[in-house]
Amino acid sequence: MNVKDALLQRQSVRAFLDKPVSHETIHRILDAARHAPSGANTQPWRVAVVSGNKKLRLQQLLDNEFRNGIKPAMDYHYYPTQWKDPYKARRIACGLQLYKTLSIAKEDKQRRDDQWAANYRAFDAPVVLFFFLDSGLETGSFLDYGMFIQSVMLVAVEEGLAACPQAALAEYPQVVKRELGYPDDSVLLCGMALGYKDNYALVNSYRTPREAVEAFTRFYE
Ligand SMILES: Cc1cc2nc3c(=O)[nH]c(=O)nc-3n(C[C@H](O)[C@H](O)[C@H](O)COP(=O)(O)O)c2cc1C
Repeated sequence: MNVKDALLQRQSVRAFLDKPVSHETIHRILDAARHAPSGANTQPWRVAVVSGNKKLRLQQLLDNEFRNGIKPAMDYHYYPTQWKDPYKARRIACGLQLYKTLSIAKEDKQRRDDQWAANYRAFDAPVVLFFFLDSGLETGSFLDYGMFIQSVMLVAVEEGLAACPQAALAEYPQVVKRELGYPDDSVLLCGMALGYKDNYALVNSYRTPREAVEAFTRFYE
């Protein structure tokens, strides 16, 4: 598979087959992704690979936080507090398109909540990855980390797997850190559902649009 094919094939998958992913496969993915570049070769990635009973326990803890109305408190601001266009419009369209695919009405709070809560189970993927950053590193490492995370997803595609990067899995960072034994002051960037795509699940038929190159690029000579 060439890089362009992997880029075009990758999509955020939110329903998975009940089929385990071997440690060898995950090791191969991380072994390729670790070649991602990073400023001064700092390699800031710290990855927790969680499956089996540990995953079940952790997702229960996260779901409890959500169902008990605990306010999410990420380690950093992923999104702005004040949204403006065109980002605001794209964000709204993204959510509406997902609910439309699943025929969830805007006023059906129960189903919207249930769909959102599926995030905390990593959409029932057999594996969930958590991406941590050591304290003391700076904004530049976020840039490095993004390259690593995209590399993980592209190699996953080559391995016949699918993924969904998930900021939702970093909404209760202290719960995750406590359960997995990471330092309190580390930064939990996001999680990622990983597994084999369920091709028959409606939710996976949803594809997001992109702006044309002309819309975001200026050429100078
Ligand atoms: C860092 C990051 C965090 C994300 N967090 C979530 C999330 O919590 N839940 C979710 O369903 N999708 C999440 N997404 C997926 C985006 O909604 C998705 O990438 C975007 O809509 C584009 O669609 P595509 O990935 O299918 O191309 C996240 C994506 C990224 C890159």
